[in-house]
Amino acid sequence: MPAQMLLKGLIDKKYRLISLLGCFALFVVSSLVMVACQSEKDGAATLSELMRDRTNQLQEIKDMLEAGDEMESATFIYDAFIAGVPSRDALGEPAVQGQLMAFDRFYASFLNDINRDSYTMVIQTCISCHERLCPGPLRLIRSMALEPIPEPGFTRF
Ligand code: HEC
Repeated sequence: MPAQMLLKGLIDKKYRLISLLGCFALFVVSSLVMVACQSEKDGAATLSELMRDRTNQLQEIKDMLEAGDEMESATFIYDAFIAGVPSRDALGEPAVQGQLMAFDRFYASFLNDINRDSYTMVIQTCISCHERLCPGPLRLIRSMALEPIPEPGFTRF
């Protein structure tokens, strides 16, 4: 019985090496099982991963807009947000999914006509959803605007 040997090994010095090897083997087997389970359900990207990829794409577009480069819309490949797996159930609700779907359509039309105005509208839309649902990356997203965007609370009316 390996379990008994392990227990004995913890008590008896003679079996210490064997018990250490046993523990190591258990560790290896359990990590293999964990890796296997992860890759099984890993088929789809998370919503956060898709958002981070999009952030990179938009930063690239911003650089090109600022440099005045010609852009070929077809070169910008992306996965729709609606395909991303959200981190919490509340984000799978129709109210949120509908907004993601609307944004996907808007983004597709943006890629057909990339210019400073349409870019600014995209960034504003990212911000307005993030102010409500996910404030973490707001600073990063604001920094992607072509002109500085004032933060609420710092504006004078
Ligand atoms: C309709 C709402 C909505 C829109 C529009 C939206 N996001 Fe998000 N974003 C979210 C939510 C919700 C999360 C968190 C996802 C999760 O936890 O599963 C997120 C996550 C992120 C993250 C990852 C944060 C992290 O912790 O890794 C980044 C970066 C991000 N969004 C940037 C953007 C950018 C840039 C845009 C515009 C192109 C955008 N988002 C448009 C709702 C939105």
